[in-house]
Amino acid sequence: MSLASAPGKVILFGEHAVVYGRPAIAVPVDQVRATAVVERGSEGQGIQICAPDLGVSHRLGDVLTPDQPAYPLQVTVQNMLRWLGRAAGQDLAVTVSSTVPIASGMGSGAAVATAVIRALAEFFDTPIDLPELSALVFETEIVHHGTPSGIDNSVITYNQPVYFVRGSPVEVLRVRRPILLAIADTGVPSPTRLAVANVRSAWEADRQRYEGWFDRIGAIAAMARRAMETGQVSTLGGLMNQNQELLRLIGVSSPELETLISAALRAGAIGAKLCGAGRGGNMIALVNDESASWVASRLEEAGAVRVMVTRLDQTPRRSAAPTE
Ligand code: PMV
Repeated sequence: MSLASAPGKVILFGEHAVVYGRPAIAVPVDQVRATAVVERGSEGQGIQICAPDLGVSHRLGDVLTPDQPAYPLQVTVQNMLRWLGRAAGQDLAVTVSSTVPIASGMGSGAAVATAVIRALAEFFDTPIDLPELSALVFETEIVHHGTPSGIDNSVITYNQPVYFVRGSPVEVLRVRRPILLAIADTGVPSPTRLAVANVRSAWEADRQRYEGWFDRIGAIAAMARRAMETGQVSTLGGLMNQNQELLRLIGVSSPELETLISAALRAGAIGAKLCGAGRGGNMIALVNDESASWVASRLEEAGAVRVMVTRLDQTPRRSAAPTE
């Protein structure tokens, strides 16, 4: 039996612009996790894939369509078996559970794929390095999102804060001083694929304007990187607010997100913005030890369906985070 898990994530700066080649910053969130267990299955039963949280229970090889929740899992298992050089004709039980909320900007799909791939690698006693793992998870991200930038698979497989530019090697970010974030869920599901497609249509209709906004977002991400590396936490708050203004302009905010962002800022958050694809899903607020619980309670009062506070610090994390 082997077991592996992977964290969720939030994007601190640069979502959407990252699809168009600008830099973005994302960090892992440990409070939510996907876990996969691989065991030997009953003889002659083939590969059983079971994810009770997703309502999934099927056999590898069952004919599925891409809109079925089991489909990305099937693709993940198939790709990994191919990578391992194992024929699909064996008896295995793959069980997945996850506390990462779905369609809400916290990397649920990439976390599940990472956990499954690691558990399979462990089961077959085959080490997999981070770039290979990330590339395999990216294949599943394509199934989920169509044209992903690659930021989710990078931050979740590396399990470290990352500065990410599409097509470039992942850069791990050293955070000089701890950063405390309140993460609040609007409860409005927002499929990334849809938000990304809407931004693409708007970009096609007015490339010059959108490219200008993306440039500004990219410049904010670059400044945020310096602020994180030099420990200027208060600078980060202003940069988050500026990033949010641009996200509004590109059309991915929503009334529910704006309500939570205003509530957080009124309660004393240093900065606040949506995170991920937008239109729904989660927002993040930069807080400190004094304001964290007050901001969290104001967010709940303003309608958040779930609030968590996560601390990002300079302690080196397990980069490979293998099986546990
Ligand atoms: O909704 P999420 O957290 O998966 O984030 C999507 C981030 C985008 O920049 C909008 C898309 C991408 O592939 O980077």
